[in-house]
This record gives sequence, C-alpha cells and structure tokens, in this order.
Amino acid sequence: MDLSSNHSRDAASVVREMNTLIDPVDHNQPGAREALLALSHRLTAMLETPSETIQRIGWAEPARFAAIRIATDLKVFDALKKAGGDSVNISQLASETGAENSLIARTMKHLSAMNVVGETGADEFSPTRFSNALTIPKYRDGISYCFDVAGPSFHGTPGYLKDTKYQNPGNISDGPFQYAHRTEEPFFVWLGKRPEHFEHFNNYMSGYRQGKRGWMDEGFYPVRERLYHDMQNDDENAVFLVDVGGGLGHDLEELRVKHPGIRGRLVLQDQPEVIAQIDKASNSIELTTHDFFTPQSVKGTPRQESDVRKKLTGLDLGARAYYFHSVLHDWNDASSLKILQNIVPAMQPGFSKLLINENVVPDVGATWSITSMDWLTMALGAVRERTEKQWRDLLGQAGLKVTGIWTYDQGTESLIEAEIEV
Ligand SMILES: C[S@@+](CC[C@H](N)C(=O)[O-])C[C@H]1O[C@@H](n2cnc3c(N)ncnc32)[C@H](O)[C@@H]1O
Repeated sequence: MDLSSNHSRDAASVVREMNTLIDPVDHNQPGAREALLALSHRLTAMLETPSETIQRIGWAEPARFAAIRIATDLKVFDALKKAGGDSVNISQLASETGAENSLIARTMKHLSAMNVVGETGADEFSPTRFSNALTIPKYRDGISYCFDVAGPSFHGTPGYLKDTKYQNPGNISDGPFQYAHRTEEPFFVWLGKRPEHFEHFNNYMSGYRQGKRGWMDEGFYPVRERLYHDMQNDDENAVFLVDVGGGLGHDLEELRVKHPGIRGRLVLQDQPEVIAQIDKASNSIELTTHDFFTPQSVKGTPRQESDVRKKLTGLDLGARAYYFHSVLHDWNDASSLKILQNIVPAMQPGFSKLLINENVVPDVGATWSITSMDWLTMALGAVRERTEKQWRDLLGQAGLKVTGIWTYDQGTESLIEAEIEV
C-alpha cells in the first residue's frame, strides 16, 4: 500500500487513541463505544487509497445493500439462524430459498466479505449478530424501507438539485422524493397509500435507535424531577403524557418500563393506518387517532398560571407533557408552526411541558448520524435537522420558551423542554 510515513504515523496515533477506549468500552462508559466507532471510521479513511474508497462507496456498499435486500426477501438470514449455530451450506440455502445455487453462492460470498455473515469453510456460512438481527421485523424492515423508499430519493437528489439550480429544497410536494418517485404527493401521503412500505417504515421507526441512550435513561434528562415529583397519587386518571405522532407506541412502552413511578395515563396519537397496525392486547397505553394539524384533543380547562400553582394536579389540567419524537423534523417551519399552534392552546401555563426529542445540530463537530439524518430529511421531505437557534426561533414563534436542552453525547437525539411563555 502506498502510505507516506506521515500518513502511517497519523494512522498509528489513531490506533493508540483507540486503545485508550478499550477499557471505557468494556466498562460501558457512556459515549465510549460511539467514540471508538468514530475513530474506526477515521482510521478507514486514513488507510484506504482513493481508489479503494471509491470502490467501497461506489460498488462494495451498494452491492452489500442489494445483497442484504435480496437475502431478506429470500429469508436467508432466517435459515442461518434456524441452524442454531451450525454452518449452512450453499446447497441447503438454495433448496430452502428456491434460488439458483450459483446466485446464492456469490451473494453469500459478498455478504461474508462485508462482515454481514461468517464464512466457516468452502461454501459454508454462519450467522452474525447483525444477520440474526435481520430476522427481526424492526431491523429487517429497516433494510426494505431504506432500500426501496429512501434509496431512490438519494439517487434522485443530484438530478433534482441540478434542475433546481442548487437551491436548498423547501417544498414538501416538490423535492428530491417527488423527483425520484415520480409523484406530486408529499412523503407521508405517498407512504400512507402504500401499505407495504408504510409497515416497513413503522417497524423501522420502532428499531432504528435501539442501542442508543435516550432521554428516559438514567443520567440524561431528570424525568422524575422535571415531570412527576410534584404529581400526586390521586392522579391516575389524569393524562400524564401524550405522544403525538408516536408511531407504534414504542416510546410510551419504554416510559412505562423505565419509570414505573409515573402515575397517570399515557396516550398515543397517530394516523388511523398506524394505530390500526398495533396489537391492542399487548398495550398498557391508550391508542387514539389524531391529526396533529387539528386542535389537540387532550386538554384541560383554560386557567391562569397562578391558579395552576395552587394545585399542580387534576384531570382538568390536560396532560403534564405533550411529546414529539422525530416528528417536527419531517416538516418545514411553516407546517411545524401549525402543528405547535395546535398544541399550545391545550397546554396549561406553569403546568404543561412540551418535550421534543430530536437532533440539535451542533455548530461544530456534528456526527455522521446527525448529518446523515439531515440529508435523509432533505431527500424525503425537503426539510432539515435544526440547530439550537433554529429550534428556539421556531418554538418562540409558537409562544413557547425553551426551558432546557439535554444532550447526551456523540450524535444522540436531544431532549428539548419548552413551556408556554408567560
Ligand atoms: C418519523 S415518524 C416518528 C414516529 C415516532 N414518534 C418515533 O419516533 O418513532 C413520524 C410519525 O408522524 C406520523 N404522522 C404523520 N402525519 C401525521 C398527522 N397529520 N397526524 C398525526 N400523525 C402524523 C406518522 O404516521 C409517523 O408515525
């Protein structure tokens, strides 16, 4: 390999830095794994020649993505997992899937070369942690959704931007998504009419941030102190939190498990097609259909902040918190403002909080997970991830003041807390 001595010294210093993270990763120190991963990406960028980088991003990764998509269709990963630790050979896979032997062979070889499966001998393969994950809907459907829906949008983005003279996309009915998918419908309208893609999207939503720390975890946002220490035990019938556009309800389920001390009802709101996908029997949350462009239905009796302070509890106060997770980044400022303006009248000054769980793009050092999400929102919705200033401006226009922003580390979504400005 043609590496200058400077280059190899730089790479060696990254390796030394990586070594210092091994213990913290072993001890589950918050942020250590993500920091090690970021260094491994940097090391790859240092070690690869330009032509290898082009080969990797231009063919190796697209081929891996296509091969995974095909393998999930053929249930190859299920077959590997079913073998219970034994290797599976190409003939077995061909007979289980009905695909031609030689096609399966080249698919498996690339998947092994790209660390998706293990290779245990000639034409023999074993599962990995990742390939086993791809048998579970919340992960498997992420592949289908990203390949079938987001993929074409990314491919269409350069052509769209060239046609529009490189202006930042801002029209939800005429952006890269519409250009690529040959439609005039906004992303969510299009998605809602395609049950297969919609199911993939919703399942993926319940899985895409698995393994990352979230605001309900210890040491992130002080849930008890900020939300329920002053709620009284007779508040069981009061609504504690409304998850607006909450998808399949995974966040509410998590809240119940991680904060069993919370009294009160947890209400999920989403579109009818999404709510219909939920297995009601397994839920301890209330499922409701609600269009967030219409006035919020969970609301208390209007009153002044001074009244509320006298008794911080009660059914007539509406919800303690109205919560949006990965919702407002799907909409431009004008639409987001409408969504917020439909919530604000339901909030009680001095009692209700608005919680937004989204990326806050830092001024310097944004991680790949934030910057790529920014690009995903552009490719799908002609929208963007917001900086702190952009969040404060948007909330201010809706009559809300930011009372805190809690951010963990290395690209996790932040928790923005806001209240009615009095
Ligand atoms: C990116 S997903 C986020 C889902 C969930 N909050 C999460 O973080 O996993 C956006 C959600 O907004 C919902 N949504 C879109 N338009 C809506 C509307 N007009 N009213 C209510 N929900 C809507 C979608 O159905 C979807 O569940």
